[in-house]
Amino acid sequence: MNLRLRIWRQKNSGTIGKFVEYQAKEISPDMSFLEMLDVINEELIVRGEEQIAFDHDCREGICGMCGLVINGRPHGPLAATTACQLHMRSFKDGDTITIEPWRASPFPVIKDLVVDRSAFDRIIQAGGYISVSTGGAPDGNALPIPKEDADRAMDAAQCIGCGACVAACKNASAMLFVAAKVSHLSLLPQGKIEEERRVLNLVAKMDEEGFGNCTNIGSCEAACPKEITLDNIARMNRLYLKALFK
Ligand code: SF4
Ligand code: FES
Repeated sequence: MNLRLRIWRQKNSGTIGKFVEYQAKEISPDMSFLEMLDVINEELIVRGEEQIAFDHDCREGICGMCGLVINGRPHGPLAATTACQLHMRSFKDGDTITIEPWRASPFPVIKDLVVDRSAFDRIIQAGGYISVSTGGAPDGNALPIPKEDADRAMDAAQCIGCGACVAACKNASAMLFVAAKVSHLSLLPQGKIEEERRVLNLVAKMDEEGFGNCTNIGSCEAACPKEITLDNIARMNRLYLKALFK
């Protein structure tokens, strides 16, 4: 496949970026999107030019490091798929592909396609944990948990903290991310103890970091590679109001 790429290049957070065009030649449809970028970078090295900076780690859809807006969609055109799990067969020969970083003021660009997502770390530090001693693995059925609660908690725990929900939201809201953490901890007995303090602290930190509010558009859910659903935001709002008026 031969492709025309428009890639955002930006030296650092203090400079103005711009799109630069590259030609991707003889790309295998079986390559991953990141492997295609590796090929471009190898060519840049041979030409003595600066490589394109982009985030990645596991390349297996589990770490949440990769974050690219591809043709206007966080993680690209496939639903429930991270950019690292996207393959070039999802594009057509001759396509033009535009690649940008996450666009949200709480995620400043560090370089090219890499943004600073440490605001998410600070939110987790504010309450995304449990402090009870859970000891070793308990015997099966020693702590009965309704199957529905366990399933919902596990679904919410799939969040990989990639930030696509923020990038997709016109308000740069982090509520889907925060709500996933609230659900995955509060639905299980070990997370009940700090439930009220947790939701208040997480929401306060989210606001302090400059993320916007949810206006029920749903673009976060559509962009989420782990299919975290909006009902988690509803659960978080209920817990937040309950804690606020207590
Ligand atoms: S809720 Fe989804 S899109 Fe948002 S950080 Fe978690 S996995 Fe990524
Ligand atoms: S590189 Fe780990 S999820 Fe994409």
